[in-house]
Amino acid sequence: MKLFLDTANLEEIREIKRWGVLGGLTSNPTLIAKEKPADIETYMKELCTEVDGPVSLETTATAADEIYEQGLKLAQIAPNVVVKVAMTTDGLAAGRRLVGQGIPVNVTLTFSPAQAILAAEIGATYVSPFLGRIDDVGADGMHALRDICEIYDVQGYETLVLAASLRHPMHIVEAAKAGADVATMPFDVFSKLVKHPLTDLGLEKFLADWNKLENELKEGA
Ligand code: E4P
Repeated sequence: MKLFLDTANLEEIREIKRWGVLGGLTSNPTLIAKEKPADIETYMKELCTEVDGPVSLETTATAADEIYEQGLKLAQIAPNVVVKVAMTTDGLAAGRRLVGQGIPVNVTLTFSPAQAILAAEIGATYVSPFLGRIDDVGADGMHALRDICEIYDVQGYETLVLAASLRHPMHIVEAAKAGADVATMPFDVFSKLVKHPLTDLGLEKFLADWNKLENELKEGA
């Protein structure tokens, strides 16, 4: 399972890249708006240059023809762009046309296995089920993800399952067990993945013992 960062913040991208685990990037209009870029296209280009992997950029039009035109423009920003279309009838129609042009598509705002079947049928490269937001309305996001993974497996769909709206480390662990191809998460969840109190305590003890040994050797010399 690849790990993607869900952000539009360049410093966060650089930090996760430094760890050597950044597989790609997902963004959305809310995340880009948060960064208040002076010029949206220039900023998107910067995001794409910073990431060695697929970068999902979202369309904001709502009618199929406009989504398609916007998708074509987004795809020209950089070779690693994946065009995000919303799970609507217009999003699907535009997505299908973009796929026909050889442009990778990510169907976003997907909340059910039934919707995920539609994303696969248009030949999308990714489908993004939003687990956390499903949980937010009192349903079971992980259950939906498991169903999607099972359906894709049984049907032999090639669309990759990109588990999104992940809120804590166990979401990532469970998504990996379910067979998701990608997990995308915000910076704070990435940071929680690496943390374990026993790692901190263990390192502290190793370093203390090592320093003690070095001091003893120095004193004996
Ligand atoms: C993914 O592509 C989305 O940008 C993201 O996962 C949404 O997450 P949220 O529900 O935490 O906003």
